[in-house]
Amino acid sequence: MSNLNKDTAELTIDGKVFTLPVVEGSMGERALDISKLLQETGYITLDTGYKNTGSCVSTITYLDGNKGILRYRGYDIEDLAANCSFVEVAYLLLHGRLPNEIELESFKGLIERFALIHEDMIHFFDHFPSHTSPMSILSVMVNSLCHYYPEMSDDPLDDFEVTSTRLISKIRTIAAFSYKKSMGHPLVYPRSDLSYCGNFLNMMFDKPVKPYVVRPEVVAALNKLLILHADHEQNCSTSTVRLVGSAGVNLYAAISTGINALWGPLHGGANEAVIEMLETIYADDCNFEKYINKAKDKNDPFRLSGFGHRVYRTYDPRGKIIKKACDEILNVLEISDPLLDLAHTLEEIVLRDEYFIERHLFPNVDFYSGIIYRALGIPTNMFTVMFALGRLPGWIAQWKEMREDPSTRIGRPRQVYAGETARKFVPLDERS
Ligand code: ACO
Repeated sequence: MSNLNKDTAELTIDGKVFTLPVVEGSMGERALDISKLLQETGYITLDTGYKNTGSCVSTITYLDGNKGILRYRGYDIEDLAANCSFVEVAYLLLHGRLPNEIELESFKGLIERFALIHEDMIHFFDHFPSHTSPMSILSVMVNSLCHYYPEMSDDPLDDFEVTSTRLISKIRTIAAFSYKKSMGHPLVYPRSDLSYCGNFLNMMFDKPVKPYVVRPEVVAALNKLLILHADHEQNCSTSTVRLVGSAGVNLYAAISTGINALWGPLHGGANEAVIEMLETIYADDCNFEKYINKAKDKNDPFRLSGFGHRVYRTYDPRGKIIKKACDEILNVLEISDPLLDLAHTLEEIVLRDEYFIERHLFPNVDFYSGIIYRALGIPTNMFTVMFALGRLPGWIAQWKEMREDPSTRIGRPRQVYAGETARKFVPLDERS
């Protein structure tokens, strides 16, 4: 943090001037500190959807939506995606710096050690209806972990190393087991000789009748996707984790709510929605015009999934990397997916269209990621689970930052009440 109290701003209400401190971040962004506004002026601020509200001061992720910059702990996302493993990036997010070789080995060792889930939890999978969304299963299972691994109940930060690696490791096992159960296939247990991503792929796709061959290119593609999803400052699910966490719940409970928030089609669920949308357009003779017009029609709830973002006013930097990775992996695997051609054409049309240009709507992280997941053999209903696997270290790092910050209070927004004024109570037998 460079300077937290550089300047002040003045606010005039009913002719009276109030002074607001200006908070400046290390990259020069400036914010008005309104924390004493109500006390001093009797006013609150109103900002539905928090379009203009900073909820915390954070040192984890920086993004510039106008320039298309995204950095974790100061490192450009392009460098991390090109050079790191997902586990290395998870360490970076959690600890604030890249690990040296010894630290990385020890961190990996913990992840490896915690890969199994308690055998009793495996019975849970048998009792979900067969059509249950894997996101719902993931959220329930993660929430339940606190009963099997309750160390965090007293001082969560004491057990942070163990609990965070346990969660990062087990979420992957839970995700793969839920897929195997949904397919009616025998479970494949984690192996200590495989990398984080290799292990996940093996647990997903290995079968007694057909052993899975872990291909380095596939591992590399998955690794990249997880890194690109690992954090994105105060988005909907992360803010949910922080808000719920501010009430003092255990880490597992807080992460479970983040998974639920991510599930939404306007958030992480968009990667699934993109594929469904592309399939619909494909089945409709590639009638792009029809769907673009639907997206522009204010009376039609349809939106082009995978386009637009609350903070980016330019191409999502993650989207750029994923688009390139998508072309590469399909090439390596010699897969010709008509949805990829369709996505390229749709993107070209959208980027030329006045409606989208005026509103700064560009492809976001979800537009091409689903096509890569399809190429890796991951079913559409698991796409958002993949997003959750990637986002987990970010959620944990944000939760930790919130818990360590002595200024943290329980999150409790205000409102402007616009309902009925005081009414006289009418007993039931006198109501018309
Ligand atoms: N298709 C058509 N129009 C759109 C789209 C879209 N995908 N996205 C935004 N718009 C339009 C809106 O209708 C609005 O138009 P108006 O000004 O004429 O009313 C304008 O662009 C601004 O949109 P808002 O909804 O105000 O933008 P907001 O920041 O609230 O929403 C969001 C951002 C939710 C991502 C939105 O762009 C959207 O719904 N996109 C599709 C879903 C999606 O891809 N979500 C994934 C986001 S990335 C992530 O969460 C991981």
